[in-house]
Amino acid sequence: MSIHTPKIDKKVTLTTIAKMKGVEPITMVTAYDALFAQLFDGEVEMILVGDSLNMSFLGKEDTLSATMDQMIYHTQAVCNGAKLPLVVLDMPFGSYSTIEDALHNATRAYQETNAQAVKIEGGKARAPIVKALTQNSIAVLGHIGLMPQFLRSDGGYKIRGKDKADIQILIEDAKALEEAGAFAIVIEGVKEEAAKAITKAVSIPTIGIGAGNVTDGQVLVWSDMFGFFEAFKPKFVKQYFDGAKEIRQGLEAYRNEVKAREFPSEAYTY
Ligand code: KIV
Repeated sequence: MSIHTPKIDKKVTLTTIAKMKGVEPITMVTAYDALFAQLFDGEVEMILVGDSLNMSFLGKEDTLSATMDQMIYHTQAVCNGAKLPLVVLDMPFGSYSTIEDALHNATRAYQETNAQAVKIEGGKARAPIVKALTQNSIAVLGHIGLMPQFLRSDGGYKIRGKDKADIQILIEDAKALEEAGAFAIVIEGVKEEAAKAITKAVSIPTIGIGAGNVTDGQVLVWSDMFGFFEAFKPKFVKQYFDGAKEIRQGLEAYRNEVKAREFPSEAYTY
């Protein structure tokens, strides 16, 4: 049974998120523009300007060709629309391959947008990059488990944490990110048992997507959860609204009325 929760009426900060671990589940959704970000304002604690925009907004097959310029453009729009959530800019593929690139691009994220943090995919191997950013006052959200930016090198989207050895690797990844100063970690596409062990192993919040109901928070891609993205639907996506159907019904009604010369009627005419 779901409960009625009040709207969020204060600016969400890194401290707010840190304090929520083990106290109250954290809600996060993606957003890519001001129009929708404005609707999400006050409804969730965090907004991720995800590189998933490359697929759901630009119609590309994967996230790999998203650019830093694109991420900055969309994050500026989201920050114009949403004032209360903690906004995270997702660093695109190739923008943090070296410490120098990561510092340069994440500095751009802070200077050219109002994002409060950046997100980086990768565990232990990426910890030195996370450390370089956090030591230079840039807040980092980690991302482990199924990592869409590794799609081609991994040969597909693969669910992680299926055996003890992989769970151990994931725990080490999470601990390395915590040690490097990440303020929270997204855990994507892992068995629930793995997500539970990772969440227990670190003192920073974990945000799950396809990781079961054991993490400190949840994140969903807005176009998936509201039924606008129709190319495919992962098992973990719960659809809270039938967006595509509603839009098509609205357009059909508009088309019918225009063709029948019913719209615009007098009420809509000067
Ligand atoms: O790009 C994105 O939307 C993401 C989420 C799936 C966590 O990384």
